[in-house]
Amino acid sequence: MRASMTGLMPVLSFPSMGLRIVRVADPVELGRIAADLVVETLGARGSAAFVAATGATPMPVYADLAARARDGSFDASTLRAFQLDEYVGISRTDRRSLTAWFDRSVAAPLGIDDERAVRFDGMADLVEGCRRYDAVAAGGLDLAILGLGPNGHLGFNEPPTGPRAPTRVVHLTPASVRSNARYWGSEDDVPRRAITAGMAQLLSAGRVLLLVTGPHKRDILDAVLHGPVSDDVPASHLRRHPDVVVIADVAALPP
Ligand code: PGA
Repeated sequence: MRASMTGLMPVLSFPSMGLRIVRVADPVELGRIAADLVVETLGARGSAAFVAATGATPMPVYADLAARARDGSFDASTLRAFQLDEYVGISRTDRRSLTAWFDRSVAAPLGIDDERAVRFDGMADLVEGCRRYDAVAAGGLDLAILGLGPNGHLGFNEPPTGPRAPTRVVHLTPASVRSNARYWGSEDDVPRRAITAGMAQLLSAGRVLLLVTGPHKRDILDAVLHGPVSDDVPASHLRRHPDVVVIADVAALPP
């Protein structure tokens, strides 16, 4: 265990594979511990770049970071933040816009201005948007803050996805449509296509934080950690990454 992890509670570790696991009591503790790691990873590096997922799971992390930004203990204003994914055909003013969610929960509260935020536009030239995103990401990503899909996806890298998949347009699987329906009302409200940061870009990040909460994530987290490394469970490719911290609550990772 690294000195920098002191104070965390690793319950399992596979040091040779670079993957550490922290079990937390609840989302508030998840937020605090993940925010500590974000500050540790990005804080001393003024121009560091990170990918920030939307979705329910990472919200406590951004709330904790926003509180630190307000009290002056964390200056995020010089960081560069990359959106993780966006639905196709959804404008920034649509209630389902993941770009707007990213702006509300990450860019605005952390004081990251337009020049330092890398966003998708679900209404623009999608191929060009993906190309531009990968060109900017090639400058180096220091951190990716990710949730885990019920089907093992990261972003919208739906199964099957290999580790070299670039940023691209994808079709959502039924599992993702179902799980996203809780945000927008019904499955009919969920767009069927999305742009996602590629697995290659996510796996290129210097460190990955994988955040997992709730009993409905228990089986898929078990598959990610203990099943075969397989394109059928895209997040299992994290087991080949040199620096991953999984932070899971007791519901997702029972003692
Ligand atoms: P969440 O899960 O929406 O529960 O945060 C992450 C995901 O499905 O990608």
